[in-house]
Amino acid sequence: MELAHFTFAQLQPCHFLLSLVLALCLVLVFSSTNETDKLALLAFKDVVKDSCGVLDSWNDTIGFFHWYDVTCGLRHQRVTILNLQSLGLSGSISPHIGNLSFLRRMYLHNNSLVREIPPQVGRLSNLRLLRLDNNSLAGEIPRNISSCSKLLVLRIDNSQLTRLRILSLERNALSGNVPSFFGNLSLLESLQLGKNNLGGSIPKVLGHLTNLYGISVVGNRFSGTIPPSLLNLSSLIWFDVAYNQMQGSLPADLGLMLPNIQGFGIDLNQFEGPIPPSMSNWTKLEIIQLGDNKLSGKVPSFGNMPKLWCFSISNNQLGIGNSNDLSFVCSLTNSTRLKVFQIGGNRLSGVLPKCIGNFSSNFNRFQVSQNLMFGEIPKVIGNLVNLEVLILSFNKFSGKIPSNIVNLQNLVVLNLISNNLGGMIPISLGNLTKLIKLGLSWNNFHGQIPSHLSKCQSL
Ligand SMILES: *[C@@H]1O[C@H](CO)[C@@H](O)[C@H](O)[C@H]1NC(C)=O
Ligand SMILES: *[C@@H]1O[C@H](CO)[C@@H](O)[C@H](O)[C@H]1NC(C)=O
Ligand SMILES: *[C@@H]1O[C@H](CO)[C@@H](O)[C@H](O)[C@H]1NC(C)=O
Ligand SMILES: *[C@@H]1O[C@H](CO)[C@@H](O)[C@H](O)[C@H]1NC(C)=O
Ligand SMILES: *[C@@H]1O[C@H](CO)[C@@H](O)[C@H](O)[C@H]1NC(C)=O
Ligand SMILES: *[C@@H]1O[C@H](CO)[C@@H](O)[C@H](O)[C@H]1NC(C)=O
Ligand SMILES: *[C@@H]1O[C@H](CO)[C@@H](O)[C@H](O)[C@H]1NC(C)=O
Ligand SMILES: *[C@@H]1O[C@H](CO)[C@@H](O)[C@H](O)[C@H]1NC(C)=O
Ligand SMILES: *[C@@H]1O[C@H](CO)[C@@H](O)[C@H](O)[C@H]1NC(C)=O
Ligand SMILES: *[C@@H]1O[C@H](CO)[C@@H](O)[C@H](O)[C@H]1NC(C)=O
Ligand SMILES: *[C@@H]1O[C@H](CO)[C@@H](O)[C@H](O)[C@H]1NC(C)=O
Ligand SMILES: *[C@@H]1O[C@H](CO)[C@@H](O)[C@H](O)[C@H]1NC(C)=O
Repeated sequence: MELAHFTFAQLQPCHFLLSLVLALCLVLVFSSTNETDKLALLAFKDVVKDSCGVLDSWNDTIGFFHWYDVTCGLRHQRVTILNLQSLGLSGSISPHIGNLSFLRRMYLHNNSLVREIPPQVGRLSNLRLLRLDNNSLAGEIPRNISSCSKLLVLRIDNSQLTRLRILSLERNALSGNVPSFFGNLSLLESLQLGKNNLGGSIPKVLGHLTNLYGISVVGNRFSGTIPPSLLNLSSLIWFDVAYNQMQGSLPADLGLMLPNIQGFGIDLNQFEGPIPPSMSNWTKLEIIQLGDNKLSGKVPSFGNMPKLWCFSISNNQLGIGNSNDLSFVCSLTNSTRLKVFQIGGNRLSGVLPKCIGNFSSNFNRFQVSQNLMFGEIPKVIGNLVNLEVLILSFNKFSGKIPSNIVNLQNLVVLNLISNNLGGMIPISLGNLTKLIKLGLSWNNFHGQIPSHLSKCQSL
């Protein structure tokens, strides 16, 4: 079997210090030992099968802090390190291990330990490192392990964790590649590896995980393309590879795969090519985030996504510079839960269609800056009474600011910078009392700045 490739950047065992502690530990004569730890170790010895007799020294003739491969802390005379790797131990792990409350590192790897990891491990609140890899452990990883809040290293690879359903290693300092044995965790439903330093490509064997409903590798250093096998998993509900260095284009038939997808995020990568029109078949979609890539071409219609609330394709190279570029916008009026619409930083040309007035009444954020849009700002924008953010900057909008903008009583940000807008600045802007940011510069406004604006106390 293949070893996992995780190396753990944050935890370079300092062998010198450890030996120093061990040496001091052996030299000092302690006036008392702690009964709790001793009993726990004896209970551990009780159920473990130790064919080589390496634990024979764990007996009463000497203080437990002299026992083989037991390291104790100086101050409290409590067990801090238990190093029993590669000793041919079989049998199970005693639940009493959870009583070693000062334990910081436990090395039990490369033995033949069986049965499940006792949930009492969750009581080891000082545990930094737990290595159980290359054993024959089975069953679930106990939920309780999440109580080990100081845990930096957890290695359980190569165990027979056949019932593993959720594997979350988020927000650690894991580096290296995703080990291919993950593809053998056949019952896995959720794989969360976000916010580590993992790299390489996403292994295609993950496509074997036919029960997987969620995968997130957000915020790592993954490169390469999305393995087609992964996009073949009809069980997937959410898929998030945002903030990596991935590339390639989205397959044309993407929308015929992932029939249950609800969240799809590939933002902050280097994906290129068009947004496949087939994606309009994703009728369960709620969130789509394609921003900050190099996607190009025409944006297809998405008329059949009743649950969609977040639509973000900003900072790509989308649009072909013709007035049809915005034809997809009206398709989103069918998404009656839409709250977020971000298409800024593209090459989208054309006039904003009036159908935006039919966007959902919950509609909250409208961001179309840095495109090639022209024409007037449609009056119907005043229908979107729950709008908080309206950003139209760096386009070629002309005409006046529609007076019914005063209906947008929840507006917090209004950015119209760098357009061809003219006329007077409407006095009624002063009625938008929640405004924090107002950008009007680089336009052709004339007349005075309305004194009424002083009513916007947060501006
Ligand atoms: C470990 O702690 C539990 C709960 O406090 C206790 O019931 C058990 O007897 C302890 N085990 C040993 C070996 O002392
Ligand atoms: C107990 O440990 C001591 C020290 O390691 C060893 O010499 C002795 O043989 C052990 N006693 C038994 C009964 O195993
Ligand atoms: C021994 O363990 C008990 C229970 O955890 C604790 O209250 C006590 O302080 C410990 N004694 C020493 C000397 O560390
Ligand atoms: C694993 O343990 C075996 C003995 O059981 C030993 O021969 C081998 O070298 C160990 N492997 C590692 C990587 O420590
Ligand atoms: C699980 O963890 C909690 C919190 O640390 C602890 O109170 C509980 O005793 C643990 N369960 C077992 C079976 O050890
Ligand atoms: C895993 O354990 C087996 C037998 O216990 C041993 O032969 C093998 O070398 C170990 N693998 C690693 C990578 O330590
Ligand atoms: C995964 O399982 C297959 C067959 O069950 C086995 O041949 C392969 O060695 C396993 N791979 C790993 C990395 O454990
Ligand atoms: C997708 O799944 C189908 C059937 O489940 C299979 O025949 C096909 O080889 C898979 N394609 C990829 C790229 O894994
Ligand atoms: C949606 O899927 C059907 C087949 O299920 C396919 O015929 C159709 O072309 C797809 N729609 C788009 C826009 O690709
Ligand atoms: C909205 O949905 C209906 C039926 O589901 C469909 O006929 C219509 O074309 C869709 N509208 C848009 C703008 O896509
Ligand atoms: C907005 O919706 C109304 C009724 O639902 C419809 O009559 C009107 O044509 C729509 N307007 C646009 C611009 O799509
Ligand atoms: C703006 O508020 C003032 C009161 O502060 C009110 O008299 C005026 O009618 C409001 N204007 C609009 C367009 O709602």
